[in-house]
Amino acid sequence: MCGIVGYIGTKEAYPILISGLRRLEYRGYDSAGVAILKDGEITTHKCKGKVSSLEAMIAAQGGNPEGQVGIGHTRWATHGPPNDVNAHPHASDDGQMVMIHNGIIENYGSLRQELSKRGHVFKSDTDTEVLIHLIDDIRKNADVTIFEAVRIALNEVIGAYAIVVMDRNTPDQLIAAKKGSPLVVGIGKDKDYFIASDATPIVEHTKNVVYLDDEEIAIIDARDGFKLMNIKNQEKTPYVQELELKLEALEKGGFEHFMLKEIYEQPRSILDSMRGRLRADKGRVELGGIRDYIQRFVHAKRIIILGCGTSWHAGLVGEYLFEDLARIPVEVEYASEFRYRNPVIFEDDVVIAISQSGETADTLAAIELAKSKGATIIGICNVIGSSIPRATHAGSYTHAGPEIGVASTKAFTAQVTVLTLMALYVAREKGSITESRFHRLLIELDAIPGKVEKVLEKNDQIKFIADHYKSVPNALYLGRGYNFPVALEGALKLKEISYIHAEGYPAAEMKHGPIALIDEEMPVFFVAPRGGAYEKIVSNIQEVKARKGKIIAIVTEGEEQVRSMADHVIEIPDTDECLMPLLTVIPLQLLSYHVAVMRGCNVDQPRNLAKSVTVE
Ligand code: M6R
Repeated sequence: MCGIVGYIGTKEAYPILISGLRRLEYRGYDSAGVAILKDGEITTHKCKGKVSSLEAMIAAQGGNPEGQVGIGHTRWATHGPPNDVNAHPHASDDGQMVMIHNGIIENYGSLRQELSKRGHVFKSDTDTEVLIHLIDDIRKNADVTIFEAVRIALNEVIGAYAIVVMDRNTPDQLIAAKKGSPLVVGIGKDKDYFIASDATPIVEHTKNVVYLDDEEIAIIDARDGFKLMNIKNQEKTPYVQELELKLEALEKGGFEHFMLKEIYEQPRSILDSMRGRLRADKGRVELGGIRDYIQRFVHAKRIIILGCGTSWHAGLVGEYLFEDLARIPVEVEYASEFRYRNPVIFEDDVVIAISQSGETADTLAAIELAKSKGATIIGICNVIGSSIPRATHAGSYTHAGPEIGVASTKAFTAQVTVLTLMALYVAREKGSITESRFHRLLIELDAIPGKVEKVLEKNDQIKFIADHYKSVPNALYLGRGYNFPVALEGALKLKEISYIHAEGYPAAEMKHGPIALIDEEMPVFFVAPRGGAYEKIVSNIQEVKARKGKIIAIVTEGEEQVRSMADHVIEIPDTDECLMPLLTVIPLQLLSYHVAVMRGCNVDQPRNLAKSVTVE
């Protein structure tokens, strides 16, 4: 949440900051700002709205500010509404220092009171402004360097932060620090340094990066280079890694929206998530990342899966997979609830934490809790080098490539793919699956990318259906067994990007309440491919039909029974029941996409949302 970008070096800062903010806008987009330092003067521009509004404002005010050091920010509001004043950067009383911040300073109320008593005047409602005033206060009263003032201040704050501070009295330096919110420093040629809340704005300038650890402070000096300290004033050795990220992966590549591009990338992202891990021809599955922990799985009495949002839905599919194939009891938990409810955790529990961004604050906190009780923590994350993979004992990346659209699509199918591989790997090691089923599933899984291509060919038909239902106020999504989580995911996709109220339910639960909602206006999306619960779901469809609900059903190719009852059917290729979510979710993603576009919604940046939720 919130995008941070900073630059210090030999080039003009403004174009670098603006292009960085555009790349980071998916992290938060309610206001934006930049501050540039030149000849000992800091010029700040900030406003409510998107980065494009900021650019237009700056252009109208006389064009690009000049200077070779600067910071920029795109905000997702926590403290104070989105407006020009609350936008970052925030300044000290005398305007000599400016700061951008991602995270939440939890004790900002008491700090603000204390600083007010000492004569500080606050312009905004933000916690960020309190922190820059605190740094300023320390700097002046203790007569210390900017680094030292930041260090002392960070020892006084409670909460999460990623910050960059720029000081007109130290024009050759930027100070960056983090705790709980990500921050990465890119090291370019010729003493060019880039700072950002993720690597996306850095990759076009350099591949060499240092991910800061919690409580580390980077002193980035245009003359003396990069030095890493921590808040205890100990020097740290920076670990420079090479980014694997490719620039093309951050572009729309001819698609109208990132979300559509990412939906269409799924044959490839599923394949990439299986590459080197699934060998159908050799009858083998292996996940190198968890090889050393496989016996923990085999002997686990329980698996706990943690996640939020779409990742939690993938976790539910994981529950079906692990129980069905590996015969291990599974509990799937919202990380946000788990972390606060004094859960019972045993040392022989295996905890699987799922997160696309690898930065979700609740998931990270839940991991720390489970780790403190001695459980083994396995990560399934997409962003390489992010905080969650670094907090886990081991794990497997999803290799879906960068997901920029706020609505998660390819991350979900990649997570389900990795969960399937994991469940198969464990089941094989444990001996809980027959040879024939194991081999059949490997062959089926291998064929999934091709079948996803086939589902994507239904796009025009799905667009036609979207046109029918684009104006409804409500929608129900029903599924059973492996497809119950898909119903939840379909409903989440519709509500988050088209703002239509939608609910997902296990189909059999409908008669315990939601059936009261059904009338001739209510579209009911049934996820009803052939499989164990097929006959049961056909009965549920009849129950809706009898109450004149509109039925849109996702069915297996050649299916006739549901077709005779439904208003619309979308056919998908057949596969094993446990792999069905990888196919059934695709039409629901496309449907939500088209409905949102037809309703004129901002598909890639839906209101009130941000891509990675780094605050509680
Ligand atoms: O990065 P994570 O997977 O941890 O994010 C979890 C949720 O915030 C995320 O899935 C969210 O629900 C998406 N907007 C869903 O499309």
